[in-house]
Amino acid sequence: MTDLLVIAVDGPAAAGKGTLARRLAAELGLPYLDTGLLYRAVGRRLLDAGADPADAAAATEQAQALTAADLSRGDLRGPAADMAASAVAAIPAVRAALLDWQRDFGRRHGAVLDGRDIGTVVFPEAPVKLFVSASPEERARRRWLEMRGRGQAAKLAQVEAELRARDAQDSARSVAPLKPAEDACWLDTTALDAEAAFQAALSLVRARLPSL
Ligand code: DC
Repeated sequence: MTDLLVIAVDGPAAAGKGTLARRLAAELGLPYLDTGLLYRAVGRRLLDAGADPADAAAATEQAQALTAADLSRGDLRGPAADMAASAVAAIPAVRAALLDWQRDFGRRHGAVLDGRDIGTVVFPEAPVKLFVSASPEERARRRWLEMRGRGQAAKLAQVEAELRARDAQDSARSVAPLKPAEDACWLDTTALDAEAAFQAALSLVRARLPSL
């Protein structure tokens, strides 16, 4: 376990973690896992079943029944999927059902994983942990642009309100809340474009692991 190359990328919604983590993985030749997709897929299964995403028993059943095919569905993004994911993510038994899956993925060949609790719970022993953030206004602007790019109409103020509500829910839950690991390197991407954020992240990774 000690020389397992796992890079944990955590942070609030729409901070640019996904883009960054995917590029780091490609650069370093590591598998990449977007762990938010697992929660999104569980939330989607509940919405499809007409169940309440906050229903712990129903959500746990769906988490245990999750398949790889659920992760490649095209309808895992958008306001309803966002809030459903955040709701199921607050249920301890759902998190427990997804934990081994994430650990097995990382242990196979090492990995870059992005999420909320990778450095604190999933891989507390990860040799590199990044906590990626940006101001709420900037994150809302990026998410709004992304939604427009997908043809989803949205009002900027509403996107920002939803994002703040989701961060509050993710930070306040009792199990594995969104918070930086004590040994995480902070990366504020508010004033950085994707390329600059990637270069900054790569420098932080190489400062921790000079052999990479
Ligand atoms: O990263 P994302 O926005 O796709 O994640 C969707 C939701 O899933 C997020 O609001 C909280 C939850 N999540 C989590 O609790 N833990 C993770 N490791 C990843 C996501």
